[in-house]
Amino acid sequence: MTQKTMIEDNNKSVPSQEAEFWNNEGGKMWTENVERTHSLLAPLSEVLIRRAAPTAGETVLDIGCGAGETTLEITKRVGATGRVVGVDVSEMILDLAKQLSPVPENLRFDLLDAGTADLGENIYDLCFSRFGVMFFEKPKSAFKNFYRALKSDGRLVALCWRTPSENPWIAQPVAAAEEILLSGSGEKPDPRAPGPFSLADPDWIHEVLKSAGFKNISLEGVDQKMPLGKMDDAVAYMMRMGPAVAEIASASEAQRTAIDMAIRKALSEFDTPEGVMGPCATWVISAQP
Ligand SMILES: C[S@@+](CC[C@H](N)C(=O)[O-])C[C@H]1O[C@@H](n2cnc3c(N)ncnc32)[C@H](O)[C@@H]1O
Repeated sequence: MTQKTMIEDNNKSVPSQEAEFWNNEGGKMWTENVERTHSLLAPLSEVLIRRAAPTAGETVLDIGCGAGETTLEITKRVGATGRVVGVDVSEMILDLAKQLSPVPENLRFDLLDAGTADLGENIYDLCFSRFGVMFFEKPKSAFKNFYRALKSDGRLVALCWRTPSENPWIAQPVAAAEEILLSGSGEKPDPRAPGPFSLADPDWIHEVLKSAGFKNISLEGVDQKMPLGKMDDAVAYMMRMGPAVAEIASASEAQRTAIDMAIRKALSEFDTPEGVMGPCATWVISAQP
């Protein structure tokens, strides 16, 4: 059975554009760069997991769990008496999670759309996510889904990017690529559309979570410098990762050369003797049902 069919069978809905992306170019991009990406995300993860504080015996949902790095770490923290479920919409990424290590008995990976699938009711002590909650077409109903899945004394702890301008190491290369590929069509994308920056606006996060029923919503800004390596490495990584990856992959040779140069120029601002250090800005979102 194909992934697409499974999602339709399980959730009785058509896969979203994001599901299509993460099962195609997005999944390819993530799986091919997973080790490097995990190592870049490690310092942010540390902060996030400390904030989420999974403890022995807890039941945890890892939303958009990707290749399962945080899922496995949380499983260690909840121990043999706990239980962890990692959910992701991408079959190819989840396949990688299943291969990462022998999957412990109390950890399960489910292929589903976390925004629309039935995640159950009153089950989890913690709904957790590292960069997996920005891709929902209907964020209010997705967060309502997490609200429903949480126990009444549970908590939601999730990490998302702040604005593109606060994350210029991602935004500028993407803008440069889009400028070349779309020949500066001038179209302004909707900042709340599904994508890495859809939850950048704190007012919007509050509105989404409040409408889902959450209380005690708090946003903690966590800023770091992303060590992207020497310039050639950094440029190559940015050509392979990010929201414009599909367009870059299908660009002509001349366009790719122009994009390489534009990304190089954009990243030069952050070049240091230790390599390119991309300033990044995130929210750690915490809330309770
Ligand atoms: C930026 S990656 C983060 C992966 C992982 N949390 C990590 O930090 O390594 C986003 C993940 O969210 C998943 N995703 C996107 N939309 C989803 C949805 N509607 N339901 C479940 N997973 C989704 C993608 O397939 C992808 O694995």
